[in-house]
Amino acid sequence: MILLKDPARPTPEFSSTPRHIAMVMDGNGRWANKRGLTRTEGHRAGEQALLEAVAGASEAGVENLTAYAFSTENWKRSTEEVRFLMGYNKEVLRRQRDLLMEWNVKIRWAGAVRKLWPSVVNELRAAEELTKNNTGLVLTMAVNYGGRQEIVDAVNKSLDTKVSRQIITEKLIQKNLYVPELPDVDMFLRSSGELRTSNFMLWQSSYAEMIFMDVLWPDFTRESMWEAITEFNRRQRRFGQASDAPLN
Ligand code: IPE
Ligand code: IPE
Ligand code: MG
Repeated sequence: MILLKDPARPTPEFSSTPRHIAMVMDGNGRWANKRGLTRTEGHRAGEQALLEAVAGASEAGVENLTAYAFSTENWKRSTEEVRFLMGYNKEVLRRQRDLLMEWNVKIRWAGAVRKLWPSVVNELRAAEELTKNNTGLVLTMAVNYGGRQEIVDAVNKSLDTKVSRQIITEKLIQKNLYVPELPDVDMFLRSSGELRTSNFMLWQSSYAEMIFMDVLWPDFTRESMWEAITEFNRRQRRFGQASDAPLN
């Protein structure tokens, strides 16, 4: 049983907390292979890590955590793995939504409807509906999500809603993203040691601090999240401005 605010694991003090963390939960397959298990077992082991990350972020006062669960490129995996991941996404939502409800977490979904199993869409929407009045951490599950697809969808939606010859602006695209309320990503976190974004939160991460950790996703804990936030606090963010302050 995973506890929120476990007295045995006190939350450290942070000088500042990222308002939005984008998180690539990577390394399930390698974790499983190292143990002679199937990739499926690796995905199963990742469920606790997700709850740990949510607990760690929530305790640290993070407002938004966006978790990459299935990318538009993941359809290229074997039929069995895709089928497993679709069913598994549903199961996790159903299994954990009451606990997340207790933790005051608001669940959102970012992704494309196209190709996604309707039963997965229904489960995601049910979780959104159940938790819509919660006021704690906003956990956005990125399922069938691709950063390029999101931008293309947003441009098309912008064109739909506006009269012809409307000039496309950054504001208009932002308004038509999958979850328009999500602020820019402050901290982009990826487990498993891979140094790439894999098409995640392209628009939102234009000024994110990139943090790559060697831990494989099933081994990720709330302490890993706190370690990442501590590293985030060491960064100097300049957003294009010049600064003569000594660099750390
Ligand atoms: C991440 O783990 C989970 C998903 C992409 C769904 P992987 O399955 O990519 O694990 P590795 O990268 O093969 O170790
Ligand atoms: C990114 O991981 C997608 C998710 C974690 C859902 P991948 O394992 O699919 O990315 P690549 O293939 O290493 O770029
Ligand atoms: Mg991977």
